[in-house]
Amino acid sequence: MLRTHTCGELREEHIEKTVTLCGWVHRLRDHGGLIFIDLRDRYGMTQAVINPDQPDVFARAETTRPEWVLKITGKVRRRLEGAERGDNPTGMIEVSVEELTVLNEAKTPPFEIDDGQPHPFTGAVPMGAAPSMGTVNEEVRLQYRYLDLRRARMQKNILLRSKIFQIIRDHFTREGCIEVDTPCLIKGTPEGAREYIVPSRLYPGEFFVLPQSPQQLKQLCMVAGLDRYFQLARCFRDEDQRGDRQPEFMQLDFEMSFCEQEDVQRIVEGSVTRVLQECSGRPLKNGKVGRSTWQEVMDRYGSDKPDLRYDLPITDISSLCDGCGFEVFERALTNKGTVRALRAPGGAALTRSEIDAWTEIVKELKAKGLAYILFTEDGPKSPLLKFFKEGFLEKLMTATKIEKGDALFFGADAFTIACASLGRIRSEAARRFDLIDTSIHSLLWVTNFPMFERAEDGSLTFSHHPFTSPNVEEWKRRKEDPLSVHSVCYDLILDGFELGSGSIRIHDRALQQEVFAMLGISPEDQKRRFGHMLEAFRYGAPPHGGFAYGIDRLVMLVAGEPNIREVIAFPKDQKAKDLMLGAPSRVEEKQLRELGINVTKR
Ligand code: AMO
Ligand code: AMP
Repeated sequence: MLRTHTCGELREEHIEKTVTLCGWVHRLRDHGGLIFIDLRDRYGMTQAVINPDQPDVFARAETTRPEWVLKITGKVRRRLEGAERGDNPTGMIEVSVEELTVLNEAKTPPFEIDDGQPHPFTGAVPMGAAPSMGTVNEEVRLQYRYLDLRRARMQKNILLRSKIFQIIRDHFTREGCIEVDTPCLIKGTPEGAREYIVPSRLYPGEFFVLPQSPQQLKQLCMVAGLDRYFQLARCFRDEDQRGDRQPEFMQLDFEMSFCEQEDVQRIVEGSVTRVLQECSGRPLKNGKVGRSTWQEVMDRYGSDKPDLRYDLPITDISSLCDGCGFEVFERALTNKGTVRALRAPGGAALTRSEIDAWTEIVKELKAKGLAYILFTEDGPKSPLLKFFKEGFLEKLMTATKIEKGDALFFGADAFTIACASLGRIRSEAARRFDLIDTSIHSLLWVTNFPMFERAEDGSLTFSHHPFTSPNVEEWKRRKEDPLSVHSVCYDLILDGFELGSGSIRIHDRALQQEVFAMLGISPEDQKRRFGHMLEAFRYGAPPHGGFAYGIDRLVMLVAGEPNIREVIAFPKDQKAKDLMLGAPSRVEEKQLRELGINVTKR
């Protein structure tokens, strides 16, 4: 090694030793006659002092700039009294430099690496004023990601991610799972997103598909008798980007044989609670993992992924609204819909423009509007009051336990629209009125999802994926009332984010064929797309089930970061581009010819 120690290693016990350190110039201070360099590496920061009585070394030190790479040799000595830094583990000592080699120079970085954050390993806070990263634009950060990753905050996230990987590997290995790496050049596996495809040179006109998840392969591992499998799997989905989505991301993917839902849940839950315990420090709400059915959370919170760090329940007021006088509510009931109300504590303080903005949000969710009442000091205020029959307002206030200063918001629509819109308003209100307890985590199992949903064109579509087993009892009424059949599917929700999903799978060939058929997949298409699964099910497929959770999302939530790009070393930007590599990009005409590809649109 070019060094004897790292920049985070030296303590008082090293005083009088001659050492060699390598690292980056974090900060430079020229104190008239003495030069101080904070030398930084992954492990910490050490103060190097250059004395003018070493003219050569001093002259070289004078030319150095932040982010230059140096090798220094010198003697460790105690810092002068008053110059010690208790907030840095190396803060009692400094290195008096005798030799200085510039290993590499650096251009001035496009943004400050020194963001004034404590060092991720040591907690050391750099001396002097802290510049702020606040204004650096994300495009520049992503373009120079290798510099961005030098920053304390990013190093912390990358280290955390690595630790979480270790915990997950350890947990699933202890649970008797075998780590199997499945291929990325495969055939389509439906998870509801668009797929990335890879042309084949040997078979022009034919394509591989990148996996949206290893779903079918892990099921085939069960047919193969591996019994318990896990993988830190890379998945690819060509979908619209959001803060919690990336075109390629990592899943913890898990599958086991001869199990019931509770067995899968126990093992998955164990890994997530261990990550939270060892990496987050924030306890679970009420000290335990919650459990609810899909119907319960939709009714109470208007969402299948509610954040339960705050309560804010929604109230079903349909039974009060018959003949209430307000046409919007009455019409919803006549159309077999529902009327629901959300009490927003403190909501009377909302301005007109805030309410307008919330109304726009629910309109995007297909709601026709967002009726409201503000309970101000001067009494209730709302354009609706004039329509209400006598006594209705009082009934509403009792049912929703209104207090002065609150607001009530209403959703009067089909069940899914009313729930979705008030569910959104619930989370907007929690943010606006600062109701989220960020000192805890809310971890929740949601079970008993409907097996099917109606697609926009009226056809049936799967709510999880087509390999999910239906509830056997309810399956009997699939012909008359398919939408009332539930599946043996379960989601894990962390702080209002869908962390993961899983299910007990279909292992019976005839049932799998029937489910495909109900989803409108013709026998020919079944054979073409899923022939391998149907064939495998002929050879003694065991009952099995599994789960997958998003590792990027987990790291994001533990790190307290606002989006998953902050916890991925080299992420794509919000437009699904890699700004550092400049990908995607055009390829040589020759490559296209070899692949038999003719690009018609540029
Ligand atoms: P699902 O499609 O719900 O289930 O995905 C599982 C989890 O993966 C994460 N995730 C994502 N993370 C980042 N960016 C994305 N674009 C993205 N898409 C999904 C989420 C999600 O909850 N095969 C099934 C699992 C199973 O049944 O075992 C599956 O993939 O955290
Ligand atoms: P309108 O009768 O359309 O003028 O609407 C009166 C109020 O009810 C407005 O504040 C609308 O935003 C709201 N509103 C309209 N339709 C609905 C609905 N389906 N659910 C909740 N509020 C609604």
